[in-house]
Amino acid sequence: MLNKVLNPDFIIRKMVPQDIEAIMAIEKEAFSMPWSKESYLAEMKNQFACYLICDVGGQIAGYGGIWIVFEEAHITNIAVNAEFRRRGIGSAIMLELEKKAREKKAVRILLEVRPSNDPALKTYKKLGYMPSNVRKEYYSDNGEDALIMMKLLF
Ligand SMILES: CC(C)(COP(=O)(O)OP(=O)(O)OC[C@H]1O[C@@H](n2cnc3c(N)ncnc32)[C@H](O)[C@@H]1OP(=O)(O)O)[C@@H](O)C(=O)NCCC(=O)NCCS
Repeated sequence: MLNKVLNPDFIIRKMVPQDIEAIMAIEKEAFSMPWSKESYLAEMKNQFACYLICDVGGQIAGYGGIWIVFEEAHITNIAVNAEFRRRGIGSAIMLELEKKAREKKAVRILLEVRPSNDPALKTYKKLGYMPSNVRKEYYSDNGEDALIMMKLLF
């Protein structure tokens, strides 16, 4: 099991079903269209997916997930508890997901983001993701486009 110690109180490990209540609390605060508990539980069993959480002193501070299909990886979700943002946790989770993608021989990684989501855009740009395409009216809650961002994995 991935269990990387980033600093003494800061551990990234695989998401397990016991994490679900903490995940849902963050999910509901972070997203206007939160995923359901059942979706996360199913994703934890998906052989093409990898979901990680960041544990800070015994508390789940954030999580993220990825699908890896052949040479392409896709970030499905990334969220950090509002109290823990701007401490590098979102970036640390993303970097671990990229590592998983490289291990599975993916050569590029993609994600979708709302153009209005400034913190996420800034995080992704800082990690080297570049805008690559637009999906018109992708988000069903407000009809907002999705910006597709991509990073090549070397
Ligand atoms: C996007 C998100 C995961 C970022 O997590 P985070 O742990 O706060 O991000 P980091 O601390 O790693 O930030 C990395 C860099 O991105 C930039 N950044 C992140 N949030 C920012 C903000 N609110 N304002 C300005 N810059 C920001 C900064 O350059 C930051 O580096 P710095 O703090 O050294 O300046 C977090 O804001 C979140 O959970 N948002 C709600 C859920 C969401 O929108 N998920 C993405 C869906 S596409």
